[in-house]
Amino acid sequence: MLEKNTNNLLLKNIQNNKASQWGFIYFQAMIISSNISLKPYNTFGIDAFAKFFTTIRSIENFQELLQDDLYKNNEPLILGGGSNMLLTKNVNGLVIKNELKGIEIVKETGNDIWVKCAGGEVWHELVEWCIAKNFGGLENLSLIPGCTGASPMQNIGAYGVEIKDTFYELEAIHVVTGEKVTFSKRDCEFGYRESVFKHRYKNQFLITSVTFQLSKSPVFHIEYGAIKQELETMNIKELSIQEISQAVIRIRSSKLPDPKKIGNAGSFFKNPEIPATRFHELKAEFPNLVAFPLENGNYKLAAGWLIEQCGLKGYRKGDAGVHKLQALVLVNYGQASGQDVYDLSSHVLKTVKDKFGVELEREVNIL
Ligand code: EPU
Repeated sequence: MLEKNTNNLLLKNIQNNKASQWGFIYFQAMIISSNISLKPYNTFGIDAFAKFFTTIRSIENFQELLQDDLYKNNEPLILGGGSNMLLTKNVNGLVIKNELKGIEIVKETGNDIWVKCAGGEVWHELVEWCIAKNFGGLENLSLIPGCTGASPMQNIGAYGVEIKDTFYELEAIHVVTGEKVTFSKRDCEFGYRESVFKHRYKNQFLITSVTFQLSKSPVFHIEYGAIKQELETMNIKELSIQEISQAVIRIRSSKLPDPKKIGNAGSFFKNPEIPATRFHELKAEFPNLVAFPLENGNYKLAAGWLIEQCGLKGYRKGDAGVHKLQALVLVNYGQASGQDVYDLSSHVLKTVKDKFGVELEREVNIL
């Protein structure tokens, strides 16, 4: 094992532009590498580089790292599954991949069960774990890419369910002070694809675990049109969370590109919310407008429909494109840079604004 003062050697060699040749063992189980391609670590498959890169496998790893000069001198960027980000440039800091693992039951009452999941667990593996034990609540969120620690950041949601519905609390460590903090549901300030971690506390915490309050006698959420239709075609005898998960997996697989095959980060834009007056004006002009009334009196527009009506579904410029089956998803056909995808997103924003007067908002985190 190399000694810690190899650190200087690494920095010296970076100054000599030989950084890519160096990677070294650091603490007992930690390796910090330099000049690493992030292509395998972001689902868009963008080939941007990190000045430094390391993987956290224990909370102790992270706390030791916090004390180190290399950490103190380089801005940290916490990475989960890299499934909701677009890298438009190299990262001139230390990328920290959260690989904290473990799922455990922490509390149980008659009907409820509290499941605590480490931040680095793959989200869908948590969903499968819960389904296998018949703990209901996460089944509609099957097959969402990414890891559990990132799930509260944008309050992931699909088919009528969001994680805020079953979220109990999360534990996190502040990236500067090392303080351990517990966030309740209220502390997270969840909204549609929103939480405090996207704004006030952006890049400030490593989420070490998330606890969900699930149900041993699940309530089924099948109101979302696509699920009902899919369940009908599946010819189900007795409905269960397994069947709902299967229906969701079938719908997602038929519409959404598999990031392992075509780079993407799911929905690139949010569905915009507009006041009722504006909705009625638009509906008069575009009778087929797809929109959903909200409890606050506003309407949510299907951004995919707006983009499709602009003739952009399937549009491609170089290797950046609008997916041909779901216009809300931008894709990297292979060699697109982050800037190519970003420029395409700007083109989509402008085209939709010109035609409908509606401002779309990017859902993906732009770096
Ligand atoms: N539509 C079109 N053309 C398209 C896409 C959609 O006309 O190309 C219309 C259809 O009429 C459809 C409606 O839009 O009825 C809604 O489409 P869909 O059910 O596919 O859902 P979405 O609103 O496009 C949202 C989430 C998805 C989530 C689905 C299902 C956002 C930004 N996206 O998409 O989440 O899986 O609902 O619940 O809210 C993600 O966030 O990455 C994501 C994939």
